[in-house]
Amino acid sequence: MKILVVGGAGYIGSHTVRQLIRAGHTPVVFDNLSSGHAEALPADVPLVRGDLLDADAVRAALDAHQPDAVIHFAALIEVGESMRAPARYYRNNVVGSLNLLQAITETRKVPLVFSSTAAVYGTTDLVPIPETAAMQPESVYGETKLMTENMIHAFHMAHGLPYTVLRYFNVCGAAPEGDIGEAHAGKSHLIELAALTALGQREKMFIFGDDYPTPDGTCIRDYVHVQDLADAHVLAVEALLAGQRTEGTFNVGLGHGFSVKEVLDTVDDVIGTPLNRELAPRRAGDPPRLVADATRIREELGFKPQFTNLKDIVQTAWNWHKGHPHDFRQ
Ligand code: UFG
Repeated sequence: MKILVVGGAGYIGSHTVRQLIRAGHTPVVFDNLSSGHAEALPADVPLVRGDLLDADAVRAALDAHQPDAVIHFAALIEVGESMRAPARYYRNNVVGSLNLLQAITETRKVPLVFSSTAAVYGTTDLVPIPETAAMQPESVYGETKLMTENMIHAFHMAHGLPYTVLRYFNVCGAAPEGDIGEAHAGKSHLIELAALTALGQREKMFIFGDDYPTPDGTCIRDYVHVQDLADAHVLAVEALLAGQRTEGTFNVGLGHGFSVKEVLDTVDDVIGTPLNRELAPRRAGDPPRLVADATRIREELGFKPQFTNLKDIVQTAWNWHKGHPHDFRQ
């Protein structure tokens, strides 16, 4: 099937393009390349360079390529930045998504898979977090994703748009081949920063707080490998195309968590030398524990993650960063 992958040149998008091809589909990418990389895509995958804020460009891409389904990744994703520049986030993430929804429902009404986030839940005492948990995002970023989820549901009710929302927990790792991986401009994720520290690009790792109510005092997160997440998109789009479902929202995680210290110990193990670490104050907005209840996606979409061992996950991230110390700029 032909799948329009909006934001397909980014970290998760490019891994999904690869897994779509492996599953026998034909992806076409629509991306403004603001944070994505053309180099992350196979040369024979068409790349439409366009912006979701340009409603005509979105419509033109749908008309020109006539996809059977759309996967929507295109968004600004930095929590801290979203608090400093809310207008940019609301415009880009919400208005951009609205343009896409209008274009889909006015032209082809094909199914949509949307990338959402565990940030829609905000701080919660629920461990693990089911999809039915209350949603109280604490950041503008999380708010833009929740608003888009709500818009998609409204388009489903009003226009019959079939959709699946995937709420990601902590996405990490890289393709086992080591040729594509995380390559954002703003580096903030734990495993990526640790890899860059190991490469000598940063002096040390800061642990943001060790007085949380967790066994070792550091925050616990559910780390899901990017290729498994990409496979979740393939499963979601195939279920929609088969007409097996017309709406659904799923957490994507492993269902168990690791602390910051456990992650850093694993990085030390993979690189074979201990990284310099320093305790730093808590980072604003970090909930102590974010772990998915991943039952629904396993049972309803048949999601079976391949990367369940943290060391294997970190190894793939390390292979990518070691081979591409400056991302795609080499
Ligand atoms: N951390 C450190 N030192 C660092 C970087 C991170 O101690 O140098 C800690 C953080 O404080 C946090 C944990 O490592 O406790 C993970 O932090 P990340 O920045 O890697 O990831 P987040 O959990 O903050 O956020 C990610 C995505 C969000 C998404 C969230 C959902 O970036 O978009 O997962 O779980 F909402």
